Amino acid sequence: MTDPIRKALEILNSGGLIGMPTETVYGLAGDATRSETVSQIYALKGRPSFNPLIAHIHDMDMAEAHGAFSDLAFKLAEAFWPGPMTLVLPSNPGNAICDLARAGLETQALRMPRHDLARTLIREFGKPLAAPSANKSGHISPTKAEHVRTEFGDELACIPDGGASVLGLESTVLAVLDGEVTMLRPGSLAKEEIERVVGPIRSSLNDDTAPRSPGMLSRHYAPDAHLRLNADTPQAGEAYLGFGSQAETTLNLSIEGNLQEAAANLYAMLRELDSQYDAIAVAPIPEDGLGLAINDRLRRASLS
Ligand code: TXA
Ligand code: MG
Repeated sequence: MTDPIRKALEILNSGGLIGMPTETVYGLAGDATRSETVSQIYALKGRPSFNPLIAHIHDMDMAEAHGAFSDLAFKLAEAFWPGPMTLVLPSNPGNAICDLARAGLETQALRMPRHDLARTLIREFGKPLAAPSANKSGHISPTKAEHVRTEFGDELACIPDGGASVLGLESTVLAVLDGEVTMLRPGSLAKEEIERVVGPIRSSLNDDTAPRSPGMLSRHYAPDAHLRLNADTPQAGEAYLGFGSQAETTLNLSIEGNLQEAAANLYAMLRELDSQYDAIAVAPIPEDGLGLAINDRLRRASLS
């Protein structure tokens, strides 16, 4: 076992918090079964306690101990775990995850990450880790260990470096309740991929009668700089975040116009431009595939 992992486990066992690398974004992780630990997560993040946390699990045994899996939920887990999908399921009676992590709801959000370091940590810890993205509430999510250090500085004693998050956008959150799948948050797993496995699903983005997630606060993922979207060209004083072959970009999410590459670059590039400019214009991004999640994050980052 490497030193950073040993140290991380020591901290987790004593009820403390660590930065946890995952393939989507870095998480602020602690023992999901201890309410003192979970309350520290809310406090450190500045997160309202009505907004529940995802519990990260290692395998299906750990998953089934906490959430009630229907056939539909099993099908999704089989297709996409480990990976960037969170399932919101009825909480099991006897669920050891504390009520506070669920924000008192009767549903439990579970995710099995595929990042090696995260998997090792959860396996060795032996219990689910509650982990929201490791940023102060409302800020841009971290995709590198150094971003987590910028957010929390001395408040976090251990941030094992798992490299840059390869996907770069949060997991797709799916509620699987009453035989129906609803996308509560678009993310790194595209809706089209999910529909290939389970057929058409609902989305709370465009369906007012669909279930909602308490976490979909309007302004979120926001830089300090003013953000202007769907900009074909920059105006005076603006940095220009391109996508595709525009001329005169300050940074480009993907010169080839590749949405996967753009998703992986989005948060790190927003952070970099935010540290140097007061205004950022962003090129138009197509709304299909991962573009749905990228545009969702950009829209919520641009609200004032
Ligand atoms: O990729 C990710 O999902 C990252 C990494 C660290 O795993 N985590 C993450 O966590 O993005 P967080 O806390 O920033 O977002 C969790 C989302 C929130 O929108 C929250 O409201 C929703 O999941 N959520 C959690 N439990 C829920 C529940 N029981 N019902 C509905 N929504 C829930
Ligand atoms: Mg977050």
